[in-house]
Amino acid sequence: MNFYIETYGCQMNVADSELVTSLLITAGHKLVNDMDQAELILFNTCSVRSHAEERVLGRISNEKHRKKANPKIKIGVLGCMAQRIGKRLIEDKIGVDFVIGVDQYDRLPDLLSAKEMNPYLLDFEATQIYQDIMPIHQSKTCGFVTIMRGCDNYCSYCIVPHVRGRERSRPWHDVVNDVKKAGQEGLLDITLLGQNVNSYHDNEVDFPELLKRLESVDSIARIRFITSHPKDLSDALIDIMASSKRVCEHIHLPMQSGSNRILQEMNRKYTIDHYLSLVAKLKCAIPNVAITTDIIAGFPSETDTEFQDTMSVINEVGFDYAFCFKYSPREGTDAATRPDQIPEAIRLERLQKMIDLQREITLSKFRAQIGKEVEVYIEGMSKKNKDQVSGKTRDFKIAVLKGSESEIGSLKKARVTDATAGTLICK
Ligand code: SAH
Ligand code: SF4
Ligand code: F3S
Repeated sequence: MNFYIETYGCQMNVADSELVTSLLITAGHKLVNDMDQAELILFNTCSVRSHAEERVLGRISNEKHRKKANPKIKIGVLGCMAQRIGKRLIEDKIGVDFVIGVDQYDRLPDLLSAKEMNPYLLDFEATQIYQDIMPIHQSKTCGFVTIMRGCDNYCSYCIVPHVRGRERSRPWHDVVNDVKKAGQEGLLDITLLGQNVNSYHDNEVDFPELLKRLESVDSIARIRFITSHPKDLSDALIDIMASSKRVCEHIHLPMQSGSNRILQEMNRKYTIDHYLSLVAKLKCAIPNVAITTDIIAGFPSETDTEFQDTMSVINEVGFDYAFCFKYSPREGTDAATRPDQIPEAIRLERLQKMIDLQREITLSKFRAQIGKEVEVYIEGMSKKNKDQVSGKTRDFKIAVLKGSESEIGSLKKARVTDATAGTLICK
């Protein structure tokens, strides 16, 4: 079958789509980039906020007409939303032929070749790590390598542990092999993925040790990792970030809130003092380190004063970038059952204030780069200007400079000449 796959949600889903692509190609199917040519249409979905789910539901309903024109077309839903409400997706008759959960992808080829299609494959496999399946990277420059699956943290707002199952790490030598292979394919920038990479462990190999073992992979230039949970970020990790020439000078460290009471209600297991002490250590050990974060506005019971505490910490830390979200109640999580939900209008208002403040800070962070020399990994043509290429600096900032297609995949030394709140303009 010709198959088309559309991916929503986080990088974990991007990596899973590459895994599914590999499984399907091995089974003789063919990937197409145009939905019009596909007999099998797959949606790899996200459940983290209600908006993410609504978007995909709209998208699936939009494509239902294709099945009238060609009854051979099959639509399958993968990922976190399939896991969460898979049965409903079939029963509601929105055009979905089958749903397949995050631990069942290796059964997809059999499902497709079976005489009678089983529409539900949703069981959790506590040990599923998709051993020996090499994902087919879609990018020619940046690759994702999954180092662990699942999450055990149960932050009270979060659906991920409910849809991704328990935490498990992949063997370290498999990770090293995958990174080597990605490097041999020409990908110089590798991001290691896990919901909480700081709790990675394979016998004696913990996360800092894994990074040490990756240091000798000469075919790659940059190592990144997401996501770090502040409760588990160790001094050993900061040391290796400081000493490694491949690990980039950037960390994504979700703060979620600047109020100790809210952090406790979120079950985050750290205080804001602890968070600030990590920021101080990082800034001291790694000159010019970029720190990005995730923050939620309007968690149940959040008072105005507590929201102001978050705003103060945003100011104090000076994040290079912050992904700001409006709290979204997720059915099945502890926080969703609380009676003290914050009205939508207030959540929105707080979100907007947070975004406005962070935009100013991001602009000043980007403008502070003007005049500096940076290394840009050229990843593609600029979308706005056909004489420009675009890429990223080691500290995860988008940079554009004059160039042509032949430079894609190369590392360039460049000088920052101007900046907006999202792009460095370089020469
Ligand atoms: N494991 C990662 C990523 C989790 S999902 C981590 O712990 O950081 C990415 C972000 O989505 C979270 O950091 C959080 O800020 C946000 N998020 C998760 N659940 C949410 C919810 N119910 N409402 C709003 N934002 C949410
Ligand atoms: Fe969700 Fe918390 Fe796990 Fe991140 S660490 S995936 S926010 S439960
Ligand atoms: Fe990722 Fe969304 Fe699932 S953030 S883990 S795709 S719920």
